[in-house]
Amino acid sequence: MAQVGILGLGIYLPSKKFTNFDLEKMVDTSDEWIRSRTGIVERRIAAPHEKTSDLAYKAAAEALKKAKIPPEKIDLIIVGTVSPDSNFPSVACKVQKAIGAKNATAFDVSAACSGYLYALITAKQYIQTGLSRYALVIAADRFTSLIDWKDRDTCVLFGDGAGACVLGKVKSGGILADFLQAFGDQGDLMQVIAEEGRSPFNPGKTSYTKLPFVRMQGQELFKVAVNSMADAVEKVLKKAKIKKEDVDCIVPHQANDRIITAIAKKLNIPKDKIFVNIDKYGNMSAASIAVALYEAVKFKKIKKGDKVVLVAFGAGLVSAANVIKW
Ligand code: ACO
Repeated sequence: MAQVGILGLGIYLPSKKFTNFDLEKMVDTSDEWIRSRTGIVERRIAAPHEKTSDLAYKAAAEALKKAKIPPEKIDLIIVGTVSPDSNFPSVACKVQKAIGAKNATAFDVSAACSGYLYALITAKQYIQTGLSRYALVIAADRFTSLIDWKDRDTCVLFGDGAGACVLGKVKSGGILADFLQAFGDQGDLMQVIAEEGRSPFNPGKTSYTKLPFVRMQGQELFKVAVNSMADAVEKVLKKAKIKKEDVDCIVPHQANDRIITAIAKKLNIPKDKIFVNIDKYGNMSAASIAVALYEAVKFKKIKKGDKVVLVAFGAGLVSAANVIKW
């Protein structure tokens, strides 16, 4: 099997910063509560004109530039998102148009906060089987458009952003192992609730009575997040035949700093081996790992030859992990 690796990374973060102090003016919360319970200090909010596809396009453009691959060489675009601009066209097709990747096939995957890894693992198979040569993998979410901004349980947690990478064959290293898992029976722990829409087959419901919004059972999710991410790390390392102590950096989904601390404890791995940037961005759903990976490389927490584990958990419920030799 050909080895597949990351050839270039890109991110896009909206310029508007929204701090915990800004949130204090909207709901009954405090900077102290948010910081101590989650580690979040501020998050980014997309401008009204910025749709998920705009965030995705900007991250993709940087990844292509860094990889030095022209758009016409991209033959696959996969976007992990749960906040597409509309039901269709897909965000991936919109990005295809925006970057001019006229030779690409394009589709979205729905795996919430695990979307980046689900997309990455899917794209890797396309390249290994010869269906694709260069893939653009994007994780983009405008998650703040799914929030009920009167609900303090959820509105303090999320932010908007996008990250991307170009995947292709590499001579050595690259993605060494993958692990995917789903727990559909626990899907109601986190869901987007939408009232019934317009349909002549559903009399009495003539229009959406409320915009869709996120509801979650935080404490239950906390436990599943810790257990499933720790389990995914153990399993993917076993597949890669790498010992925990030989891992240089873990890049986890950034949902809550306390979840990350609990994973470090459960795995018996020093916390300083785990990259954390939740303080600046909150939980950006699929984009969290993509942006964290970009920053871990930029801030030299990941160097050439390092063994890196990416691990995700999200609504569905779904979890995923990779081992990458950088
Ligand atoms: N500000 C102030 N007080 C608050 C807030 C707030 N924003 N939100 C809740 N509270 C209150 C509650 O009402 C409760 O008050 P009470 O004791 O008087 O009843 C108290 O704070 C404690 O609430 P808990 O829910 O017990 O707080 P907890 O310590 O569990 O933290 C949190 C809540 C941060 C949501 C935590 O459970 C968590 O992070 N869970 C995981 C969530 C998650 O990961 N979601 C996304 C996963 S999937 C994906 O990323 C798409």
